[in-house]
Amino acid sequence: MAVRVGVIGLGFMGRTHLEIHLNNPRAEVTAYCDYDPNRTKGDMSTGGGNVGEAKKLNIDPTKVKAYFEPDELINDPNVDAVDICLPTYLHAEIAIKALKAGKYVLCEKPLTVSLKEADQIVEASKKSKAFIMPAHCMRFWPEWDWLKKAVDSKEFGKVHSATFKRFAAAPGWSAKNWILNPKLSGAALFDLHIHDTDFVRFVFGNPKAVFSVGNGGKSTRDGIDHVVTSYLYKNPKLVVVAEGGWNADTSYPFTMRYTVVFDKATVDFDASREGKVLMLHRAAEKVGEVVKVATQNGWQLEIDYFLECIEKKTKPTIITVKEARESIALVHAEEKSIRERKIVKIR
Ligand SMILES: NC(=O)c1ccc[n+]([C@@H]2O[C@H](COP(=O)([O-])OP(=O)(O)OC[C@H]3O[C@@H](n4cnc5c(N)ncnc54)[C@H](O)[C@@H]3O)[C@@H](O)[C@H]2O)c1
Repeated sequence: MAVRVGVIGLGFMGRTHLEIHLNNPRAEVTAYCDYDPNRTKGDMSTGGGNVGEAKKLNIDPTKVKAYFEPDELINDPNVDAVDICLPTYLHAEIAIKALKAGKYVLCEKPLTVSLKEADQIVEASKKSKAFIMPAHCMRFWPEWDWLKKAVDSKEFGKVHSATFKRFAAAPGWSAKNWILNPKLSGAALFDLHIHDTDFVRFVFGNPKAVFSVGNGGKSTRDGIDHVVTSYLYKNPKLVVVAEGGWNADTSYPFTMRYTVVFDKATVDFDASREGKVLMLHRAAEKVGEVVKVATQNGWQLEIDYFLECIEKKTKPTIITVKEARESIALVHAEEKSIRERKIVKIR
């Protein structure tokens, strides 16, 4: 039997997740929720986003129940799994309620900006008969999954350096502009850059310390809109750096890149380089090779994994709630490093 899914929050991420669930045979969308009545009629065309298209979705109102209040969806007996795509500041409250109601939860990243709330979510998940899976999609993105496997297998030897970049114009689509309020979203540091922080931890583990520089003032008044972090590991020769921000001007395209130098190869990912998104440059070869990976995107693979874990009654291991909590903690260390202009040790 398909997993009966309810999606809460039908903005950029909600409509993306909803469309994926509607096309995944493991899922049956039985409910969705948004306080915007156009969106609960299936018309997401007023939404925005930096990937994909905001459009009308064909939703059968006899099969999908529309709610305006998240609590009502959570308590719907025809919902087994709740997919939370609400603004970040609402995640903790709704995720904890859903876990208490015994529902499986997929919750967008960041789980929350507050470490106190992150701990409350971890506690709620321990007490629940279901589970929560934080939606850290980069762990599932095919070219990033390929990189994780290349590092783990040591196929190209050890890593000398890994640099990541995620850069965009400030989001202009969010409901009542919540993303541009650092108290609600954590600004680019928590909303955007956490993708790379979490991936760095996934591949290299927690660093011993971080040194970050960054600033705000262009896109938000007192949030961190642009950050560059060096993750400092026990091996002093390992260079791991991530740059992220949304300070670019509006015509600048969403940019997602990495370059990793191994002993025996250099790999380079650039989401905008059509047909050559992931390139492998082997030592001593004159020409780089295009690396072919799965054609599904990370959101599709992440959602499929979530549904598969429910089907198999196993807890997710690729990303766990504790891992997501540690990534939030590391981003806090980066913020401390920026604000205090010093290296911050990680315990
Ligand atoms: N994984 C990714 O790649 C990715 C990309 C973008 C956003 N996100 C995350 O997804 C989450 C949502 O971001 P978004 O860009 O979709 O935001 P958004 O503003 O586009 O969408 C939020 C939706 O929630 C609705 N909403 C707000 N408060 C509500 C309430 N109390 N009750 C019912 N509906 C309510 C709004 O009407 C809106 O439709 C954030 O946590 C963000 O960080 C993740």
